[in-house]
Amino acid sequence: METREACFDRRLYSRRINSDAAAVCREVNVILDRIDRLSHLSDDDQFDVKVILSELLQNAIRHGNDMDQAKMIALDVTLDDQDTLEISVQDEGLGFDIERVLSQKRVKSVEAEDVFALDEFGRGLLIIESLCDTVCRNDRGNRITIRKQMQHL
Ligand SMILES: Nc1ncnc2c1ncn2[C@@H]1O[C@H](COP(=O)(O)OP(=O)(O)OP(=O)(O)O)[C@@H](O)[C@H]1O
Ligand SMILES: [Mg+2]
Repeated sequence: METREACFDRRLYSRRINSDAAAVCREVNVILDRIDRLSHLSDDDQFDVKVILSELLQNAIRHGNDMDQAKMIALDVTLDDQDTLEISVQDEGLGFDIERVLSQKRVKSVEAEDVFALDEFGRGLLIIESLCDTVCRNDRGNRITIRKQMQHL
């Protein structure tokens, strides 16, 4: 049996939210608070999770839902008993091929030698990838799921 199947997932958060920046910011704080209560986040993890959520949600609002506030984002967060965090963000867009976008961006970042030396825009996915253990998508490409092991304090 795969180890992961034996894990007990604690569903921390599961909501559908409007594509509204202010509402999304409030929900990010709710999630950080819930994770912290269960797992006592290190400052580094707290910062990383905030960045990951912000980048994923900004992309869902801007690229997936075309800034249409009526369109919804499904956001799910679980933490298993090994303190592996899983975040899943689904928008109403047509989806995109994240592997293809990332491989193009990786080439550019190698050419630029540093992700922070890249253009001002187009860094979100590379930052997400660098902070997460795994990044994957559903078939349609409109749901991104990341996993990240939290540090033990
Ligand atoms: N949820 C999404 N739906 C559709 N396309 C997406 C989605 N997320 C990202 N993309 C595509 O992947 C590209 C790269 O995303 P990335 O977050 O790296 O950069 P960006 O959003 O364009 O700029 P930045 O994040 O630096 O403000 C986007 O420009 C967009 O074409
Ligand atoms: Mg982005």
